[in-house]
Amino acid sequence: MEHFDVVVVGAGAAGLFCAGLAGQRGRTVLLLDHAEKVAEKIRISGGGRCNFTNRDVGPANFLSDNPAFCRSALARYTPADFIALMQRHGIAFHEKHRGQLFCDDSAEQVIRMLLAECAQGGVAHWQPCAVAGVRQTAGGFELDTARGTVSTGRLVVATGGLPIPKIGASDWGLRLARQFGHGIVEPRPALVPLTFDAALWAPFHDLAGLSLEVEVQTGAGRQRGRFLEDLLFTHRGLSGPAVLQISSFWRPGQPVHITLAPAAVGVALREAKLSSQRQLGNELAAHVPARLAQTWLRTLDLPATRPLPEVRDRDLARLGDSLSRWTVLPNGSEGWRKAEVMAGGVDTHELDSQSLASKRVPGLHFIGEVVDVTGWLGGYNFQWAWASAAACARAL
Ligand code: FDA
Repeated sequence: MEHFDVVVVGAGAAGLFCAGLAGQRGRTVLLLDHAEKVAEKIRISGGGRCNFTNRDVGPANFLSDNPAFCRSALARYTPADFIALMQRHGIAFHEKHRGQLFCDDSAEQVIRMLLAECAQGGVAHWQPCAVAGVRQTAGGFELDTARGTVSTGRLVVATGGLPIPKIGASDWGLRLARQFGHGIVEPRPALVPLTFDAALWAPFHDLAGLSLEVEVQTGAGRQRGRFLEDLLFTHRGLSGPAVLQISSFWRPGQPVHITLAPAAVGVALREAKLSSQRQLGNELAAHVPARLAQTWLRTLDLPATRPLPEVRDRDLARLGDSLSRWTVLPNGSEGWRKAEVMAGGVDTHELDSQSLASKRVPGLHFIGEVVDVTGWLGGYNFQWAWASAAACARAL
């Protein structure tokens, strides 16, 4: 039976990075993945350019049942550390929006960099190679793999989250955690478009494709989310960065509040009435996109062609309020097929925040998205993958 100091299951962002670092620390490392291709999620991320980190990362950018858990790993492996690695490999990048860093060329460069780091650490890489079962032994673990049984002192679970099963996502890591007595924070799709009852959504169909900056909020207390980002209307509901961000905070049955236009628009319309003969639709289109103005007036039963002086103040106030305080009740989300990330996962109360080691089973570690730490949209999830992998590798 072959023996390795460390076996890492999952050759995605966190697994590749951890395996390379552990190998470079002199450990014998085996990296296994059941998928045909390595790191598919890096490949498709950021529209093929991988938003690999964010210049401004802190615990406040993450959701977890245990919000302080991510602090230590994030502090000890920062965006500057990953940027330095990219620069050592000569990979050009640029900042797009609010500190989000993307490759100039292709996400493939990040994958090649991580594979080169693994090669430098002498990591054995078996892929595709499924793992049928794991047993605890006196010295650690035995794994029954498609290429035979291997033994190891340290087992690192880096199998990611549940989104996009067709490119390799599985619940293997969650099942293994349960097998060893770990609690799971109920997984749910996050960074995902929200959907609405078809009949309720019918009036907004015409708006599909329209994008505008809005303020969006949901939840209360520690569960409250609030973002100023672009909203995108779709045929089935709402998407765009604003809604992807808020979806991570949203729970079934909860309303989402959207400010499509500032409250001042209602006042501005009433003031304009004193001096303008323009039609209501044209006046409103000075404040919001023309398509939105037309649809909105239709849903409120207000004629777009009516001259402004003939519109009642009461109706203008109602119009302003409905735009500044639009409350919607999603009936669900686009689910695992479309989610960018899994919220929930292995409960962090039973993990050591310094080493991502199990407090229950010596030698067992969980890193990356399988852990109940979920980043906002904007490079935060990769930074968690790098930081948790680095914290774990230091302890191997
Ligand atoms: P990751 O999913 O990367 O890797 C898990 C690996 O485990 C996979 O290779 C899988 O095949 C393997 N595996 C699963 N089950 C297994 C089993 N039973 N046996 C063996 N191997 C198994 N984040 C970000 O910060 N910036 C971005 O631009 C984007 N963009 C983006 C776009 C899209 C479309 C998605 C779906 C996601 C993103 N993300 C993102 C999120 C980001 O991709 C994600 O959080 C990280 O890849 C998580 O890294 P992990 O290594 O934990 O999992």
